[in-house]
Amino acid sequence: MTRYVERFNTGERVLHWFVTMTFFTQILSGIGLFSRLFVGYFDLFGGGQGAILVHKYAGVLFLASSLLLFLNHRKEISVLDDDDRFWLSRLGGYLSRGHFEENNGKFNAGQKLFGMFMGASTVFLGITGLIIWWPLAFPRGIVQISLLIHGLIFVLFFMLVILHVYLATIGNPGTLDGMIWGRVTRLWAKKHHPKWYKERAGQEKTT
Ligand code: HEM
Repeated sequence: MTRYVERFNTGERVLHWFVTMTFFTQILSGIGLFSRLFVGYFDLFGGGQGAILVHKYAGVLFLASSLLLFLNHRKEISVLDDDDRFWLSRLGGYLSRGHFEENNGKFNAGQKLFGMFMGASTVFLGITGLIIWWPLAFPRGIVQISLLIHGLIFVLFFMLVILHVYLATIGNPGTLDGMIWGRVTRLWAKKHHPKWYKERAGQEKTT
């Protein structure tokens, strides 16, 4: 038996990093549109028109890939069980110093909520984005509300992605290995996702 257990296959990893690339392209090309404070970022795209063009077409790629990522994980993230409720009641143990015994499946409750938020936000960013893309096709009030919702979701999404990156790297060492190499150590799996690890170990025995 090796030290490692498989966490994500190649397709899952490629899709995750593709979503990440398009997500940050959207942030860099859209931030100058969000506030005048950031118009300097337009230079990365040869000016405002270039940034808008990239924002529209990379937006379509983000919409499609992010929805696919959500759909791929939907079975694993859409149900919160008693262990998840326990995890939530203790906020994952992140705000206390005591030992926290977690019993997570493949994803913990925080990851599940992030995944659901990501799916819903992608849909709303897509719908509002398309309305802003063709503003003359819709009543003025709808376009203005769309601009507001698009901006609000962007702020929330960006903050949660920063938290996601922190928790997936410095916050929980060993986690990033799964998304880079596809495998994590058994020690990491037993500590963070014991229920999932037991299932995996059971499958290994029967194959
Ligand atoms: C540099 C940026 C990023 C890093 C380092 C990163 C890292 C990771 C890692 C290590 C995992 C696996 C977690 C585990 O095994 O438990 C993961 C999962 C995931 N990532 Fe990312 N990620 C990044 C950006 C993003 C972005 C931009 C999105 C969405 C827009 C995203 C969405 C997800 C989702 C939905 C999952 C699966 C469920 C979850 O962990 O919440 N990631 N990410």
